[in-house]
Amino acid sequence: MKNKSRDIFTEIFNRQPEISIHSPGRINLIGEHIDYYGGFVMPAAIDRYIGLSIGKTLAESCSVYSAAYHEKYSIDISGVEQPIRAPWVRYFTMGLNVLAESGFHTRAFNLTIDSDLPTGAGLSSSAALLTGFIEILSVLNKWSMAREKIALLAQTIEHRLGTPCGLMDQYASLFGKKDCFILLDCANLKYREIHVRLGDYRLRLYNTKVHHELTDGGYSSRRKQGEAALEELKSFYSKGGSYRDFTMSELDQMPIFDPIQYKRAKHAITEHQRVHEFAHAVDKNNFETAGSLLYATHQSLKDDYEVSCVEADHIVEIAKLEGIAGARMMGGGFGGCVLCLMDKKYEEPFNHHLFKSYRKRFGFDPELIEFELGEREIYL
Ligand code: GLA
Repeated sequence: MKNKSRDIFTEIFNRQPEISIHSPGRINLIGEHIDYYGGFVMPAAIDRYIGLSIGKTLAESCSVYSAAYHEKYSIDISGVEQPIRAPWVRYFTMGLNVLAESGFHTRAFNLTIDSDLPTGAGLSSSAALLTGFIEILSVLNKWSMAREKIALLAQTIEHRLGTPCGLMDQYASLFGKKDCFILLDCANLKYREIHVRLGDYRLRLYNTKVHHELTDGGYSSRRKQGEAALEELKSFYSKGGSYRDFTMSELDQMPIFDPIQYKRAKHAITEHQRVHEFAHAVDKNNFETAGSLLYATHQSLKDDYEVSCVEADHIVEIAKLEGIAGARMMGGGFGGCVLCLMDKKYEEPFNHHLFKSYRKRFGFDPELIEFELGEREIYL
């Protein structure tokens, strides 16, 4: 992919780029929809990337080219938004705005973007893009920006663009390593690397091909409902903290609780418990137990957090029937991918059954995404 990114730049701008970055997407084993409550999550970077290549220009404005859209736009260096823009360009204009507000004023640049990371599939293409964009500007302008700062700025840009996300995706893309998951404590942003030796087990992604947009409102409404429920809990028990500081029995002892808020709180509390049980099971190479926790997370995301979709539910149901160790929808939800953990001997029969039944029910195929764990790469 390195050469591809560089070749695209050379073709579009007739010269070699000065810097290229491959910014990875991520998977998340467990800890879904709790990063923004300061919970524990267990993501990893994968070997699917957004490629960015950059070079300085003497022109007054910047040029950004997307290989996916075959479109090139010129953007004002200050990031001032101009009307009638392709939506993908807003990541860059908003990015320049947020950087300028934080005192980072870039020199003019030419930039190309390419990707082998599916968008809207819950693999964090936007975090890969934004962390890659900020980092490549940091190298070009010699800002020496710490990756923690890059993560926070990338999150701010997402918030401005309408997704009130946590920091899991940015951390996974920036700090993920080829051979490990990170157990990230989103309360203090410290993480521990976890080397998972899968042995005969495999992780596979099945893309429902139901495209999700986290800006649609479902993501932010879940977060608002969950935060409101947490405030109720804190005020009833007169204590601080977050969901990880509450138990299900405390939740159940609340006298009156809005039923929607109850379900959001139930997911957040039980998901925290599952992350710890999962980390423990994986430490002991107990993948059957780990897998059953993935099924439990799916159930909770479906029934209590209500962020799944029928296509993802279908994949999980077939996985159960076929003896797969565990499966769950992954990422923000409302579409995207299902992550499966399986003994390799079940893979073929599962794929066969799944593709047949999925096509029959929905009229199209899901997409099997094979991947390895990956990490960010910078080429100077
Ligand atoms: C999206 C967000 C993350 C996280 C997940 C759900 O990927 O960007 O911050 O909230 O959804 O776990």
